[in-house]
Amino acid sequence: IKIKITDREGIVHEVDAPTDMNMNLMEIVRSYELAPEGTIGICGGMAMCASCQCYVASEHELPPMSDDEDAMLAEAFNVKDNSRLGCQIHMTEDLEGLEVELAPES
Ligand code: FES
Repeated sequence: IKIKITDREGIVHEVDAPTDMNMNLMEIVRSYELAPEGTIGICGGMAMCASCQCYVASEHELPPMSDDEDAMLAEAFNVKDNSRLGCQIHMTEDLEGLEVELAPES
């Protein structure tokens, strides 16, 4: 699928995201090096650091938040109504055209 990711400098990247590798959005961002190493994915995708926080700009219906994600976002900085943890969003066909913006590094 193709998704659009706005990096922390405001640059929009349209990237191919495979749906058959069980990758999440944080891993996609890292694989395309859209955020410097060490600033995203710090907890390894365990919903325990919020370094992968992003704002969902498109109207896609995403899987509901787990309690862990909800609790992490309750403590994170720069949280908005459309904040999600990138590591909790797995790439599936119905996310074609997804648009997200990386939250500032905190
Ligand atoms: Fe740590 Fe997503 S990588 S919460």
